[in-house]
Amino acid sequence: MELQALRGTSDILPEDIPRWLSLERTIRRLARLYSYDEIRTPLLEEASLFRRSVGETTDIVQKEMFQFEDRSNQLIVLRPEGTASIVRAYLEHHLDKRIGFAKFFYCGAMFRAERPQAGRFRQFHQFGVEAIGSHSPWIDVEAITLCQAMLSACGLPQSRLWLSSMGCKPDQLRASQKLRERLSLHRSSLCSDCQSRFDKNIFRVLDCKKESCRAIVWKEKTSPFILCAECQAHYDQVRQGLHSAGISFDDTGIFARGLDYYTRTVFEFRAKGLGAQDAVAAGGRYNHLVEELGGPSTGAVGFAAGIERLLMAIPKGTSDSSTVSRHGIYVAVTQPTLIAEGFRLSQQLREKGIAANMDYDSKSLKAQLREADKVQAQYVAILGEAELAQQSITVKDLGQGTQRTIPLDQFIQEMSHAANHEQ
Ligand code: HAM
Repeated sequence: MELQALRGTSDILPEDIPRWLSLERTIRRLARLYSYDEIRTPLLEEASLFRRSVGETTDIVQKEMFQFEDRSNQLIVLRPEGTASIVRAYLEHHLDKRIGFAKFFYCGAMFRAERPQAGRFRQFHQFGVEAIGSHSPWIDVEAITLCQAMLSACGLPQSRLWLSSMGCKPDQLRASQKLRERLSLHRSSLCSDCQSRFDKNIFRVLDCKKESCRAIVWKEKTSPFILCAECQAHYDQVRQGLHSAGISFDDTGIFARGLDYYTRTVFEFRAKGLGAQDAVAAGGRYNHLVEELGGPSTGAVGFAAGIERLLMAIPKGTSDSSTVSRHGIYVAVTQPTLIAEGFRLSQQLREKGIAANMDYDSKSLKAQLREADKVQAQYVAILGEAELAQQSITVKDLGQGTQRTIPLDQFIQEMSHAANHEQ
């Protein structure tokens, strides 16, 4: 095969679509239940948006953005994540002034030029939420609760929630000093990336994936973040809220998030059996991002889940996702001269909202019946010369295995009755 999809991208074939649709239906239903409204932002954004939000020294910005100059020399990127775009849209459309507190839900493709491997792609899909306009710890609890509800409603059998707090800006300054002290003796043993992170943005060593670095960085098995009284109170309230919602978590502190915009609560849901790429959903609070992108001081929190990873972790057939039920009508004709009449009937069915399918290639009746079964039609309607002469049509119910002949002028009405009955 000469032409292939690019490495790290994949086709979602019709046979996979039912799982995707089922997942999308589930997450939309839950987003509505928690009053998060859908937002769709462009796939293309100015590169500076992510430099200013995700952070100049993060892996995403340094190594993973697909970027190019357009004809007017503007630096454009394919969006690597959704949070920054949503904050941009919130400010661009003055939603801070129009509605203040806003709860968004989104679902769509993201792009990162990562080295492809199991569970890590260059084009992947995320769903997520962003609640912008509140500092309340209860919004953190709500977002985490919603995330867990979405993962389990999608059929994820088991996941573990990692929870931590990265504090406020002054807490982070103190933590960076503490980390420098902790690591200064071991600096030369860190990977070359982490050695440069040590000077430029020491927090990025916390999420280095290399085992040798992790062993040094997390040797003390405690969080480098020592929280101020307000951040501690916020974190305690989040933990209490999660306890009362019956959500268990690991808060041993040996966890941090790798995007620069995080403050206070950070979390990650990890699934069993996914190997190194086991984070199915992750998020946290970002209390300075709105301000950093030109808006007023605004509290915000959100998360995003990777759909491909989630589907890898969900056993096929656990939800209604993989059962394709019979539906619609296959109109079969006994000879090619009847195609026009078959087409007319198919159109009438479609106008009534009933799925109709037929063959236009003069296949034998046997081949058409095989095809009707293959496309999982509920009914096959057989139109022949003899039937037409008597103004009737034969309808087979492929699910039940029954067959009857009905007057042609009652066909559409009966079929819409049967289709409504099925729904
Ligand atoms: P993130 O941790 O970069 O956070 O991505 C969230 C999730 O997207 C990951 O847990 C993973 O499931 C999925 N994901 C990320 N990269 C890939 C990839 N290359 N291939 C497949 N799946 C991937 C964010 O994107 C933040 N915007 C989350 C957030 C929202 N924080 C606050 N609000």
